[in-house]
Amino acid sequence: MSDTIADLSASLLRDIAAADSETALEAVRVSALGKKGSISALLASLGKMSPEERKTAGPAINGLKTEIGAQIEARRDALRAQALEKRLAAETLDVTLPLRPAPSATGRIHPVSQVIDEITAIFSDMGFAIAEGPDIETDYYNFTALNFPEGHPAREMHDTFFFAPDETGTRKLLRTHTSPVQIRTMETVAPPIRVVMPGRTYRNDSDQTHTPMFHQVEGLVIDKSSHIGQLRWVLEEFLKAFFEVESVTLRFRPSFFPFTEPSMEVDVQCDRSGNEVRIGEGSDWLEILGCGMVHPNVIANAGLDPDVYQGFAWGMGIDRIAMLKYGMADLRAFFDADVRWIEHYGFRPLDLPTLFGGLSS
Ligand code: DAH
Repeated sequence: MSDTIADLSASLLRDIAAADSETALEAVRVSALGKKGSISALLASLGKMSPEERKTAGPAINGLKTEIGAQIEARRDALRAQALEKRLAAETLDVTLPLRPAPSATGRIHPVSQVIDEITAIFSDMGFAIAEGPDIETDYYNFTALNFPEGHPAREMHDTFFFAPDETGTRKLLRTHTSPVQIRTMETVAPPIRVVMPGRTYRNDSDQTHTPMFHQVEGLVIDKSSHIGQLRWVLEEFLKAFFEVESVTLRFRPSFFPFTEPSMEVDVQCDRSGNEVRIGEGSDWLEILGCGMVHPNVIANAGLDPDVYQGFAWGMGIDRIAMLKYGMADLRAFFDADVRWIEHYGFRPLDLPTLFGGLSS
């Protein structure tokens, strides 16, 4: 028996020394001390021995068990210490390396977001509220409530994206302009109303100055005595502030929109002789927005009394004025998500546009 114990002890000690991972060591432990392990088998054999034999074999086997258990523990501690040392060596940090720039230093604000922030700053300062409406609209809000008669050619001119008809046969659409938000605002806000409504708009059109998704900002003023002189003033003040110039000269041309009467298109005086367009000087004109006095039918459709309330509205392409102000030539690049473009034309995230701190500085 003592030979068996000595052999087993030697072989287990060899296995323990050879175990080069905690997993290998655990396998040795199970092979010796597990339920079916070699030492457990020896312990079980005690029961079949004579009391004489047991007297010597008992302490010897238990001694082996204690010894092997202690050796396994010691080997496990050594393996853990080794693994930790290896990790510490692999994970060394070079604290002299230069810091990576923070996200606030490398991130850029898209020119469209920047211009929306600039527009918001200017009109908030004039006492306007900001409102938004859904991109997916009904035919009623996009056309009918805005006084587009059924079958009127102006509906066709909008190159509308329609959704498939639902069970009742009605088709939703992607709004072709921000004007439906005028109706939604008049339905929910009691006059006097002074609101600007920026957002995404959609038309089936694509070339250097048109993309299927683009941005507009709508303006609406409704009160008992709002008039066209105020409209002129608001637009002039806005354009001066936006283009950051001392003065602008505007030209109002008669036009047609179903939702305004009279309707006008506004050109801004500019100089196009050099490489860039300069606003506020020169002898050229650039069309910049549509506007007019809100049609009485529109006021009535939105639930207000056109004999009591009147007002004016305007609509302007945000991408277009962004291109003019910041000198981009192709609108399609706005939505290409090319990081080199945004690095060149984007704005620093912490430079928020304000009237007191400068809009684009
Ligand atoms: N909704 C028009 C368009 O997309 C722009 C417009 C013109 C809006 C005149 C207005 C307005 O509010 O009064 O072409």
